[in-house]
Amino acid sequence: MTTTQAIPPVLGRVPMRDLMTAPYPTLAAIRESTPAFAVENNGYRMWVITRYEDVRQVLSDPSVRRDLVAHRKEINSHCLVRVQQRAHLPHGSRRSFFDRDGDEHRRLRGLVGSIFSPGRLVALRADTERITAELLDKLPVGEPVDLLDRFARPLAGTVICDLVGVPVDERNMLAVLETEMITSPVITEIEEAAQRLHDFSVELVALKRERPRDDLFTALLHRHDEGRMSLDELTSTYVLLLVGGMEPASAIGNGVFTLLTNPDQTARLLADPSLFAGCVDEIVRYESPFRFVPPRYTTAPIELDGVTIPAGELLLISLAAANRDPARFPEPDSFDPDRDTKGHLGFGYGVHRCLGAELGRIETATALRALFERFPRTRLTVPPDDAVWRPGKFMRRLDTLPVILN
Ligand code: HEM
Repeated sequence: MTTTQAIPPVLGRVPMRDLMTAPYPTLAAIRESTPAFAVENNGYRMWVITRYEDVRQVLSDPSVRRDLVAHRKEINSHCLVRVQQRAHLPHGSRRSFFDRDGDEHRRLRGLVGSIFSPGRLVALRADTERITAELLDKLPVGEPVDLLDRFARPLAGTVICDLVGVPVDERNMLAVLETEMITSPVITEIEEAAQRLHDFSVELVALKRERPRDDLFTALLHRHDEGRMSLDELTSTYVLLLVGGMEPASAIGNGVFTLLTNPDQTARLLADPSLFAGCVDEIVRYESPFRFVPPRYTTAPIELDGVTIPAGELLLISLAAANRDPARFPEPDSFDPDRDTKGHLGFGYGVHRCLGAELGRIETATALRALFERFPRTRLTVPPDDAVWRPGKFMRRLDTLPVILN
């Protein structure tokens, strides 16, 4: 029997503290109790979706939209429940294909689509190996070091900035601003970081015009000059690629943490280091950096296992919960590098699936293999339960990764 879910008069709050301290039991409890759970998040009513099949269904439904700027009037009249809670991000900074639907998404994604050609990926693998070795050479051995700060973030930052063409002396603030924009719990910090990244991309446009180079940002500027993308689309795409390109830092951090807390599995990988490449998808399934993807908006009713979510609602879709759904992955809460991870959703699903997944795999596998081959007796300096995760509900990221290399 189908029931149209009445919008509850009192909404649940996303259990923030539980999501930080025990994300998987918290998401599992929602997944087991209902296919769609209405919560208040950042001042808006949203429906949490956690089941594997449901997540795939909504992420591939063309009536479910990503462009919240285009629908902002309806969203603010329907879904806003606490006005003082919401972040104000400049509309012009949300015009990349990440925030678009249909033909506009296709047009803009198509303009950068060829950056990850097979030939380019071969070159990127060699670059990644060189940068990884250079960073490892500089790390102190036998004393505490934060691997996120000194290894994972500089690695991801250098690879993406080299690829798109950000000059070396302009890169300093990227990791800090990206971390604040994506994972800060403080609305003013999110707003300020988003504004500064937008301003930075405006400066980069001027720089590329003045000093064009054989790089992706110069190529995209030409697409703008040819009339194929607006200025807001260009600057938003710059920010998207820089922010997306930092994501391997989370996967490397989550991967190092997972391997250090699963020593038997790590010993197996070290006995046959070619297995490192294959374990990256299991890391991205097991500790999905995107706990939730950015909110979607329904333009038609959605039917999920007997429950109907009306049109005009926001969805909070959890990749982390779907990736640990026992209906899809047996013993989902164990880390198993031999698992068949086919169909995992850690890189998303549908038209917005990750554009840089292959580069993300290369960076994560290279970093883990090089680190553990060189320092096989590395250990955490804190008990795993005391690890500090970034606040913010959307991402699963460590704040620091204190280890002693050995
Ligand atoms: C292991 C590392 C990475 C993970 C786990 C990851 C994860 C994801 C996920 C889950 C999405 C879908 C978001 C959604 O549906 O709203 C996504 C989209 C995207 N990612 Fe990644 N990503 C990674 C690395 C990268 C890299 C290296 C780049 C390089 C620029 C990148 C660029 C993008 C872009 C441009 C999109 C937007 C695609 C679209 O909207 O059509 N990602 N990523």
